[in-house]
Amino acid sequence: MSRGPVRIAPSILACDFARLGEELAAVESAGADWIHVDVMDGHFVPNLTLGPPIVEAVRRSTSLPLDVHLMIEEPERSIADYVKAGADTVGVHAETCPHLHRTVAQIREAGARACVVLNPATPAQAVEMVLADVDQVLLMTVNPGFGGQSFIAGVMPKLATLRRWVDEQDLRVDLEVDGGVARGTIGQAAAAGADVFVAGTAVFGAEDYAQAISALRGEAEQAS
Ligand code: DX5
Ligand code: ZN
Repeated sequence: MSRGPVRIAPSILACDFARLGEELAAVESAGADWIHVDVMDGHFVPNLTLGPPIVEAVRRSTSLPLDVHLMIEEPERSIADYVKAGADTVGVHAETCPHLHRTVAQIREAGARACVVLNPATPAQAVEMVLADVDQVLLMTVNPGFGGQSFIAGVMPKLATLRRWVDEQDLRVDLEVDGGVARGTIGQAAAAGADVFVAGTAVFGAEDYAQAISALRGEAEQAS
């Protein structure tokens, strides 16, 4: 199975929350493919963001697929709530899931695509035994918790390993990167095998969202 098309997923963490609906409409018309939603609990990561009611409001404000990234402890307790709120994909951190195989099955049973997320210091092997049971693997290219951090290029060999496993096993698994993705770094991730790219600051921090998204897409496609 070859890799999927380049998809750009703006992270609303970097948007103006006072104008959430307008910001969503703006990135949708600027060519975004997915919307990335960062859920942080103040425990697994130091920051605290949003929960199911906001995901539900996002769902009503855009027709784009919602890629919900749960940076929370015991995610199995609230997966159903996020799917009910409108998540198309639910990502759980391997570091928070002692029963990862069960949690991945729970996401699919609830009706969403299952994604496993790995922190920069977590090896590829943490997802190896469930690779055939997931729809997506998200490799963090920053330590999660905040937008606007610098891309950790040391994650690229892990991404290349996952690309090789997915291709060798002929799986249909999207490989996503999140954190510090911008012009100058997105090409490295594309070259190492990513096909989904989360970008917060690089999109919402730009003057012109359409120009930012198309520049990111162009660099990724060229490097793929
Ligand atoms: C970090 C979040 C990211 C973040 C990315 O914990 O998971 O999705 O919003 O922001 P940038 O693109 O600014 O690094
Ligand atoms: Zn994220």
